[in-house]
Amino acid sequence: MSVAVDQYGVFGHPVGHSFSPFIHGVFARDTGEQMSYRAYDVAPQEFGTRVQEFFSGGGRGLNITLPHKIAAVEVAQELTGRAAHAAAVNTLALQDDNVILGDNTDGAGLVRDLCDNLRLVITQRRLLILGAGGATRGVLAPILGLEPAIVVIANRTPERAEALAAAFADLGVTQGVGFAYVGDTPFDLIINATSASLSGDIPPIPAGAVGPETVCYDLAYGRSAMAFVRWAQQSGCALAVQGLGMLVEQAAESFRLWRGVRPETAEVLAALKRRIGSV
Ligand code: ATR
Repeated sequence: MSVAVDQYGVFGHPVGHSFSPFIHGVFARDTGEQMSYRAYDVAPQEFGTRVQEFFSGGGRGLNITLPHKIAAVEVAQELTGRAAHAAAVNTLALQDDNVILGDNTDGAGLVRDLCDNLRLVITQRRLLILGAGGATRGVLAPILGLEPAIVVIANRTPERAEALAAAFADLGVTQGVGFAYVGDTPFDLIINATSASLSGDIPPIPAGAVGPETVCYDLAYGRSAMAFVRWAQQSGCALAVQGLGMLVEQAAESFRLWRGVRPETAEVLAALKRRIGSV
Protein backbone atom coordinates (compact mmCIF):
# COMPACT_ATOMS: atom_id res chain seq x y z
CA MET A 1 0.00 0.00 0.00
CA SER A 2 1.41 3.38 -0.96
CA VAL A 3 1.32 6.24 1.53
CA ALA A 4 0.70 9.77 0.19
CA VAL A 5 3.73 11.95 0.90
CA ASP A 6 3.81 15.74 1.10
CA GLN A 7 4.61 17.26 -2.28
CA TYR A 8 7.20 19.97 -2.91
CA GLY A 9 8.92 21.26 -6.01
CA VAL A 10 10.60 24.06 -7.91
CA PHE A 11 8.93 26.20 -10.57
CA GLY A 12 11.27 27.70 -13.17
CA HIS A 13 11.67 28.24 -16.90
CA PRO A 14 13.91 26.60 -17.92
CA VAL A 15 14.35 24.30 -14.93
CA GLY A 16 16.00 21.19 -16.34
CA HIS A 17 19.42 22.25 -15.02
CA SER A 18 18.14 22.76 -11.45
CA PHE A 19 20.04 21.08 -8.60
CA SER A 20 17.11 21.61 -6.21
CA PRO A 21 15.57 18.10 -6.65
CA PHE A 22 18.96 16.56 -5.81
CA ILE A 23 19.56 18.87 -2.84
CA HIS A 24 16.10 18.42 -1.31
CA GLY A 25 16.20 14.68 -1.99
CA VAL A 26 19.35 14.39 0.13
CA PHE A 27 17.87 16.66 2.82
CA ALA A 28 14.70 14.51 3.00
CA ARG A 29 16.71 11.30 3.23
CA ASP A 30 19.06 12.67 5.90
CA THR A 31 16.28 14.09 8.09
CA GLY A 32 13.87 11.17 7.54
CA GLU A 33 11.14 13.51 6.28
CA GLN A 34 8.48 11.80 4.13
CA MET A 35 8.18 14.07 1.10
CA SER A 36 8.57 14.24 -2.65
CA TYR A 37 10.27 17.04 -4.61
CA ARG A 38 10.36 17.58 -8.36
CA ALA A 39 11.10 20.26 -10.94
CA TYR A 40 8.28 21.84 -12.96
CA ASP A 41 8.93 23.79 -16.16
CA VAL A 42 6.35 26.58 -15.96
CA ALA A 43 6.05 29.29 -18.62
CA PRO A 44 5.56 32.86 -17.34
CA GLN A 45 2.00 33.21 -18.70
CA GLU A 46 0.79 30.16 -16.75
CA PHE A 47 2.69 30.82 -13.52
CA GLY A 48 -0.22 32.05 -11.34
CA THR A 49 -2.59 29.28 -12.46
CA ARG A 50 0.00 26.54 -11.99
CA VAL A 51 0.80 27.73 -8.45
CA GLN A 52 -2.91 27.65 -7.52
CA GLU A 53 -3.28 24.18 -9.08
CA PHE A 54 -0.21 22.89 -7.22
CA PHE A 55 -1.49 23.97 -3.82
CA SER A 56 -5.14 23.04 -4.41
CA GLY A 57 -3.91 19.61 -5.54
CA GLY A 58 -2.26 18.95 -2.18
CA GLY A 59 1.18 20.57 -2.69
CA ARG A 60 2.84 21.90 0.48
CA GLY A 61 5.68 24.12 -0.75
CA LEU A 62 7.54 25.46 -3.77
CA ASN A 63 10.89 26.94 -4.58
CA ILE A 64 10.61 29.68 -7.17
CA THR A 65 13.47 30.36 -9.55
CA LEU A 66 14.05 32.45 -12.65
CA PRO A 67 12.10 34.07 -14.19
CA HIS A 68 9.26 33.88 -11.63
CA LYS A 69 10.68 35.42 -8.43
CA ILE A 70 8.92 38.75 -8.87
CA ALA A 71 5.62 37.24 -10.09
CA ALA A 72 5.64 35.07 -6.96
CA VAL A 73 5.29 38.19 -4.79
CA GLU A 74 1.80 38.67 -6.26
CA VAL A 75 0.84 35.01 -5.86
CA ALA A 76 1.78 34.95 -2.16
CA GLN A 77 -1.07 35.87 0.20
CA GLU A 78 1.34 36.90 2.95
CA LEU A 79 5.02 37.94 2.83
CA THR A 80 7.84 37.59 5.34
CA GLY A 81 9.73 40.80 6.11
CA ARG A 82 12.78 39.64 4.18
CA ALA A 83 10.68 38.81 1.10
CA ALA A 84 9.12 42.27 1.25
CA HIS A 85 12.59 43.85 1.45
CA ALA A 86 13.84 41.74 -1.44
CA ALA A 87 10.69 42.48 -3.48
CA ALA A 88 11.10 38.89 -4.67
CA VAL A 89 10.02 35.45 -3.45
CA ASN A 90 12.02 32.24 -3.83
CA THR A 91 9.95 30.07 -1.47
CA LEU A 92 6.20 29.52 -1.12
CA ALA A 93 4.77 27.57 1.81
CA LEU A 94 1.19 26.51 2.47
CA GLN A 95 0.56 27.33 6.10
CA ASP A 96 -1.81 25.47 8.45
CA ASP A 97 -4.45 28.20 7.90
CA ASN A 98 -4.22 27.51 4.12
CA VAL A 99 -2.59 30.91 3.50
CA ILE A 100 0.25 30.82 0.94
CA LEU A 101 3.28 32.44 2.58
CA GLY A 102 5.99 34.01 0.39
CA ASP A 103 9.53 34.04 1.76
CA ASN A 104 12.98 34.83 0.37
CA THR A 105 15.81 32.66 1.68
CA ASP A 106 18.49 33.84 -0.80
CA GLY A 107 20.03 36.46 1.49
CA ALA A 108 19.96 34.18 4.52
CA GLY A 109 21.61 31.49 2.39
CA LEU A 110 24.38 33.87 1.38
CA VAL A 111 24.94 34.96 4.98
CA ARG A 112 25.12 31.31 6.12
CA ASP A 113 27.69 30.53 3.43
CA LEU A 114 29.82 33.59 4.19
CA CYS A 115 29.71 33.31 7.97
CA ASP A 116 29.37 29.57 8.72
CA ASN A 117 30.98 27.80 5.74
CA LEU A 118 33.67 30.33 4.78
CA ARG A 119 34.01 31.73 8.33
CA LEU A 120 34.29 35.33 7.13
CA VAL A 121 33.77 38.27 9.44
CA ILE A 122 31.49 40.88 7.86
CA THR A 123 30.89 43.16 10.83
CA GLN A 124 32.79 46.45 10.45
CA ARG A 125 34.25 45.30 7.10
CA ARG A 126 34.05 47.15 3.75
CA LEU A 127 31.87 45.46 1.16
CA LEU A 128 31.50 46.11 -2.56
CA ILE A 129 28.48 44.70 -4.39
CA LEU A 130 28.62 44.70 -8.19
CA GLY A 131 25.22 45.16 -9.81
CA ALA A 132 21.99 46.81 -8.76
CA GLY A 133 19.34 44.40 -10.08
CA GLY A 134 17.12 41.84 -8.42
CA ALA A 135 20.00 39.70 -7.17
CA THR A 136 21.48 42.63 -5.21
CA ARG A 137 18.10 43.69 -3.83
CA GLY A 138 17.52 40.12 -2.66
CA VAL A 139 20.61 39.95 -0.44
CA LEU A 140 21.02 43.54 0.80
CA ALA A 141 18.89 43.39 3.96
CA PRO A 142 20.49 40.23 5.41
CA ILE A 143 23.97 41.53 4.51
CA LEU A 144 23.33 44.89 6.18
CA GLY A 145 22.03 42.97 9.21
CA LEU A 146 25.64 41.81 9.76
CA GLU A 147 26.59 45.48 10.30
CA PRO A 148 29.41 45.99 7.80
CA ALA A 149 31.21 49.34 7.95
CA ILE A 150 29.89 50.20 4.48
CA VAL A 151 28.25 48.53 1.51
CA VAL A 152 29.20 50.22 -1.76
CA ILE A 153 26.87 49.23 -4.62
CA ALA A 154 28.48 49.77 -8.03
CA ASN A 155 26.52 49.51 -11.24
CA ARG A 156 26.87 50.13 -14.97
CA THR A 157 23.79 52.32 -14.69
CA PRO A 158 24.75 54.44 -11.63
CA GLU A 159 21.18 55.68 -11.02
CA ARG A 160 20.03 52.14 -10.19
CA ALA A 161 22.83 51.77 -7.64
CA GLU A 162 22.02 55.16 -6.10
CA ALA A 163 18.32 54.27 -5.85
CA LEU A 164 19.05 50.91 -4.21
CA ALA A 165 21.51 52.44 -1.75
CA ALA A 166 18.92 55.04 -0.79
CA ALA A 167 16.16 52.43 -0.42
CA PHE A 168 18.26 50.45 2.10
CA ALA A 169 19.92 53.39 3.89
CA ASP A 170 17.78 52.87 6.99
CA LEU A 171 19.37 49.43 7.47
CA GLY A 172 23.03 50.50 7.37
CA VAL A 173 25.70 52.56 5.64
CA THR A 174 25.20 52.27 1.89
CA GLN A 175 26.56 54.11 -1.13
CA GLY A 176 25.53 53.75 -4.77
CA VAL A 177 28.05 54.63 -7.52
CA GLY A 178 29.14 53.99 -11.10
CA PHE A 179 32.20 51.74 -11.50
CA ALA A 180 34.49 54.72 -12.10
CA TYR A 181 33.78 55.97 -8.57
CA VAL A 182 34.45 52.74 -6.66
CA GLY A 183 37.82 54.07 -5.50
CA ASP A 184 41.25 52.53 -5.01
CA THR A 185 41.02 51.30 -1.44
CA PRO A 186 40.83 47.48 -1.27
CA PHE A 187 37.53 46.01 -0.05
CA ASP A 188 37.30 43.09 2.38
CA LEU A 189 34.60 41.40 0.31
CA ILE A 190 33.48 41.90 -3.30
CA ILE A 191 30.20 40.24 -4.29
CA ASN A 192 29.35 39.88 -7.97
CA ALA A 193 25.58 40.19 -8.39
CA THR A 194 25.62 41.25 -12.04
CA SER A 195 24.55 39.02 -14.89
CA ALA A 196 27.65 40.15 -16.84
CA SER A 197 29.29 36.70 -16.54
CA LEU A 198 26.50 35.17 -18.61
CA SER A 199 28.01 36.95 -21.60
CA GLY A 200 31.57 36.37 -20.38
CA ASP A 201 31.95 40.03 -19.32
CA ILE A 202 33.61 41.41 -16.21
CA PRO A 203 32.36 44.70 -14.80
CA PRO A 204 35.09 47.41 -15.00
CA ILE A 205 36.22 47.17 -11.38
CA PRO A 206 39.15 49.49 -10.51
CA ALA A 207 42.28 47.39 -9.85
CA GLY A 208 42.83 49.04 -6.46
CA ALA A 209 39.51 47.67 -5.13
CA VAL A 210 41.11 44.21 -4.88
CA GLY A 211 43.94 43.54 -2.43
CA PRO A 212 45.67 40.43 -1.06
CA GLU A 213 43.11 40.22 1.77
CA THR A 214 40.04 40.63 -0.46
CA VAL A 215 37.54 37.78 -0.78
CA CYS A 216 35.63 37.69 -4.08
CA TYR A 217 32.25 35.91 -4.18
CA ASP A 218 29.97 35.33 -7.16
CA LEU A 219 26.29 34.75 -6.39
CA ALA A 220 26.15 32.50 -9.45
CA TYR A 221 27.84 29.12 -9.86
CA GLY A 222 29.18 26.91 -12.61
CA ARG A 223 29.67 28.44 -16.04
CA SER A 224 27.82 31.62 -15.03
CA ALA A 225 30.43 32.35 -12.37
CA MET A 226 33.49 31.34 -14.38
CA ALA A 227 34.46 34.71 -15.86
CA PHE A 228 34.32 36.56 -12.53
CA VAL A 229 36.05 33.80 -10.55
CA ARG A 230 38.89 33.65 -13.12
CA TRP A 231 39.22 37.44 -13.06
CA ALA A 232 39.31 37.39 -9.25
CA GLN A 233 41.97 34.69 -9.12
CA GLN A 234 44.13 36.63 -11.57
CA SER A 235 43.69 39.86 -9.62
CA GLY A 236 45.56 38.47 -6.62
CA CYS A 237 42.70 38.28 -4.12
CA ALA A 238 42.83 36.04 -1.04
CA LEU A 239 39.98 33.77 -2.13
CA ALA A 240 37.59 33.51 -5.09
CA VAL A 241 34.35 31.63 -4.48
CA GLN A 242 31.32 30.75 -6.58
CA GLY A 243 27.82 30.68 -5.07
CA LEU A 244 27.33 26.94 -4.65
CA GLY A 245 27.27 27.30 -0.86
CA MET A 246 24.59 29.97 -1.13
CA LEU A 247 22.55 27.63 -3.35
CA VAL A 248 22.68 24.83 -0.78
CA GLU A 249 22.12 27.11 2.21
CA GLN A 250 19.09 28.88 0.70
CA ALA A 251 17.64 25.43 0.04
CA ALA A 252 18.24 24.44 3.67
CA GLU A 253 16.43 27.61 4.83
CA SER A 254 13.46 26.73 2.59
CA PHE A 255 13.46 23.17 3.92
CA ARG A 256 13.38 24.48 7.48
CA LEU A 257 10.42 26.75 6.69
CA TRP A 258 8.49 23.79 5.24
CA ARG A 259 9.43 20.98 7.62
CA GLY A 260 10.56 22.72 10.82
CA VAL A 261 13.97 21.02 10.74
CA ARG A 262 17.22 22.39 9.31
CA PRO A 263 19.20 19.76 7.41
CA GLU A 264 22.97 19.39 7.48
CA THR A 265 24.46 21.00 4.36
CA ALA A 266 28.14 19.94 4.29
CA GLU A 267 27.64 16.62 2.50
CA VAL A 268 25.44 18.06 -0.28
CA LEU A 269 27.78 20.99 -0.78
CA ALA A 270 30.78 18.68 -1.09
CA ALA A 271 28.90 16.52 -3.62
CA LEU A 272 28.00 19.55 -5.75
CA LYS A 273 31.57 20.85 -5.61
CA ARG A 274 32.78 17.49 -6.90
CA ARG A 275 30.28 17.75 -9.74
CA ILE A 276 30.75 21.38 -10.73
CA GLY A 277 34.23 22.36 -9.56
CA SER A 278 35.58 23.28 -6.21
CA VAL A 279 36.01 27.07 -6.26
P1 ATR B 1 19.20 40.09 -11.66
O1 ATR B 1 17.81 39.85 -11.17
O2 ATR B 1 19.96 38.86 -12.03
O3 ATR B 1 19.99 41.00 -10.77
P2 ATR B 1 18.75 42.30 -13.45
O4 ATR B 1 17.75 42.91 -12.55
O5 ATR B 1 18.49 42.30 -14.92
O6 ATR B 1 18.99 40.79 -13.10
O7 ATR B 1 20.18 42.96 -13.17
C1 ATR B 1 21.32 42.57 -13.83
C2 ATR B 1 22.49 43.35 -13.28
O8 ATR B 1 23.68 43.00 -14.00
C3 ATR B 1 22.33 44.85 -13.43
O9 ATR B 1 22.98 45.47 -12.35
C4 ATR B 1 23.06 45.11 -14.75
O10 ATR B 1 23.53 46.44 -14.88
P3 ATR B 1 22.53 47.60 -15.43
O11 ATR B 1 21.62 47.95 -14.29
O12 ATR B 1 23.43 48.71 -15.81
O13 ATR B 1 21.79 46.99 -16.59
C5 ATR B 1 24.24 44.18 -14.59
N1 ATR B 1 24.87 43.81 -15.86
C6 ATR B 1 24.37 43.01 -16.82
N2 ATR B 1 25.26 42.87 -17.83
C7 ATR B 1 26.35 43.60 -17.49
C8 ATR B 1 27.62 43.86 -18.12
N3 ATR B 1 27.93 43.32 -19.31
N4 ATR B 1 28.51 44.66 -17.47
C9 ATR B 1 28.21 45.21 -16.28
N5 ATR B 1 27.02 45.01 -15.64
C10 ATR B 1 26.11 44.21 -16.24
